[in-house]
Amino acid sequence: MAVGIFDSGLGGLTVLDAIVAGLPEQPLVYLGDNAHAPYGVRTADDIYALTQAGVQRLWDRGCDLVVLACNTASAVALRRMQEAGVPRGKRVLGVFVPLIEALTEREWGDNSPPREVDARHVALFATPATVASRAFQRELAFRAIGVDVEAQACGGVVDAIEEGDMILAEALVRSHVEALRRKMPQPQAAVLGCTHYPLLEAVFQQALGPNVTVLSQPSLVARSLAHYLARHPEMAGQGSGVEYVTTGDPLRVSDRATQFLRRPVRFAAV
Ligand code: DGL
Repeated sequence: MAVGIFDSGLGGLTVLDAIVAGLPEQPLVYLGDNAHAPYGVRTADDIYALTQAGVQRLWDRGCDLVVLACNTASAVALRRMQEAGVPRGKRVLGVFVPLIEALTEREWGDNSPPREVDARHVALFATPATVASRAFQRELAFRAIGVDVEAQACGGVVDAIEEGDMILAEALVRSHVEALRRKMPQPQAAVLGCTHYPLLEAVFQQALGPNVTVLSQPSLVARSLAHYLARHPEMAGQGSGVEYVTTGDPLRVSDRATQFLRRPVRFAAV
């Protein structure tokens, strides 16, 4: 029917927008689990159960392919879901690999052995659950050697964004960047490992300074999805346009989404 895009809340909209820009004809269903956001402070079992339930809802709506536009879900739940077995004809993909391929200068799907890359000191900004999972370091180790990663768990940022309190969110970003710099004074690259953070990309860049390359996921994931659909056209589904659904209060979520994307967005109850 369409490709499903899943996030705990509003962050995945940054990925959705990049997908719409790159694949304007692609039918999409966006599901935000706003009733349960943020995921980043929950236990692994909780994140797994919520992600599984969200993906199942999208599969039930006819989305054969679901993209987890959420690093926390990708880091904590994706591998477990794939190991538990995905129903026949259904697929679920995460957002980590496109980011790591970009960082390690790899083309899509390049599975050659790990090698040295330009970025040797990398800062990772992500939710506490993503940082604790060490999934980023694990995926990186398959592709690169000699990269020093310093991770900063950015407590509070997603809550502030979901509440629409961007002043608090910006202040928290600045203090998390300072904390990171105490551990790694001169990162070469910084990875925004949470799909909510592109909403604050300019603040990260300003706090990090012009010499740090900030890698943000939306365009990388959109490009990777376009490649995937070119290879698997049967997963694209049929229909047109974008449908937005939420487990939260549709009016409230629509207001916030409209504020962030600076265009009208209307959510319905899932
Ligand atoms: N946007 C999500 C991520 O990429 C989820 C954040 C959260 O719910 O804590 O990690």
